[in-house]
Amino acid sequence: MKLAVVGGGSTYTPELVDGFARLREDLPLTELALVDPAAERLEPVAGMARRMLRAAGHPAAVTATGDVRAGVEGAAVVLLQLRVGGQAAREVDETLPPRCGCVGQETTGAGGLAKALRTVPVVLDIAETVARHAPGAWIVDFTNPVGIVTRALLDAGHRAIGLCNVAIGFQRRFAATLGADPSRVSLGHAGLNHLTWVRSVLLDGEDVLPGLIREHGREIAADVGLPVELITRLGAVPSYYLRYFYAHDLVVAEQRTEPSRAARVAEIERELLALYADPAVTAKPELLGQRGGAFYSEAAVALIASLLGDRGDVQVVNARNGGVLPFLPDEAVVEVPARITASGAEPLPVAPLEPLYAGLVAHVSAYETLALEAALRGGRERVADALLAHPLVGQEHLARELTGLLLEANRAHLPWA
Ligand code: G6P
Ligand code: MN
Repeated sequence: MKLAVVGGGSTYTPELVDGFARLREDLPLTELALVDPAAERLEPVAGMARRMLRAAGHPAAVTATGDVRAGVEGAAVVLLQLRVGGQAAREVDETLPPRCGCVGQETTGAGGLAKALRTVPVVLDIAETVARHAPGAWIVDFTNPVGIVTRALLDAGHRAIGLCNVAIGFQRRFAATLGADPSRVSLGHAGLNHLTWVRSVLLDGEDVLPGLIREHGREIAADVGLPVELITRLGAVPSYYLRYFYAHDLVVAEQRTEPSRAARVAEIERELLALYADPAVTAKPELLGQRGGAFYSEAAVALIASLLGDRGDVQVVNARNGGVLPFLPDEAVVEVPARITASGAEPLPVAPLEPLYAGLVAHVSAYETLALEAALRGGRERVADALLAHPLVGQEHLARELTGLLLEANRAHLPWA
């Protein structure tokens, strides 16, 4: 089985390769094609991937190319993990909005919109090449903003599923706290990508979340950066991306004094690339643990294994709503547990979302629809409308000001701006 990774020069790739090596029984991988336009990253990363597989005795060949067509040709699965504009563009997403008093984040708020504008056309272009040269291949999208990008892929008729590591992160964390094998733990996880709540934690089918919150509330609260009182009152665990909503002004104040995440990640990446270029390094470096992608590889391997092997197990993915959250359009993309078979992801029914969550989900989902419109068709007014619709922007003068700032700063990536 050939698997292509577009954005294969990402410093995350060894995380993925580590998963392929550890979970080789689940995935009969024969060729890993790394595709990336940045040769200076692709070479050391491909070298590292080869050494890791060799050290593990894994027979798969690693190929590296800058050409999407050559890379995806004949692949059964294409994983997208690219970042248009690199950490430099992310730095803009993170630092511009705080100048207007709004949160600066690469997937949430105005920064997330800028990322969507840059990314959607590039991803759709790649998907066209996949459809032509690897017909029938599954596209697994890790590229942020995952909700909007997945919706773009599905609307264009591609065989795509969106994936994020937030849910598997919670599942592994709770399993460890419970001292249970992760296979016994499943989450009542619902919402949109990077806008989710865990409302139940089933251990062998029984909800143990109330006890987890009672006994470990403080640690859980510290992990998601929110007060333990809130988590106790909700009886649910919001993902750490909810901090950008529930503690918005506090986050903006922090962002105005602290260095950006983009700057820190750029530093980590420089060090990682130096390690990958060192022939003596044959295992995933510890330093990679400082990136946000924990369990990324396990989520990817599990999803691909179930798609190709028609396993029919349940995993949290991004897929069409189709009535699961009845207050959203059927075409919206939601992040919920879904049954994964050879025909794709079938979301399972979700207990009705309480108004406390449903309002925010509906609000952000409508923003995502407008953000996708802006990314597909361009135009200042569409960008301003999306910002006006976003609960973290919402005011006319902010939408106008941020539209000007973001389009100006992203001009190199937006031919229409
Ligand atoms: C988590 C999110 C990803 C995001 C990453 C950022 O894994 O689920 O969507 O890309 O964090 O991590 P970074 O190390 O780049 O800040
Ligand atoms: Mn994510």
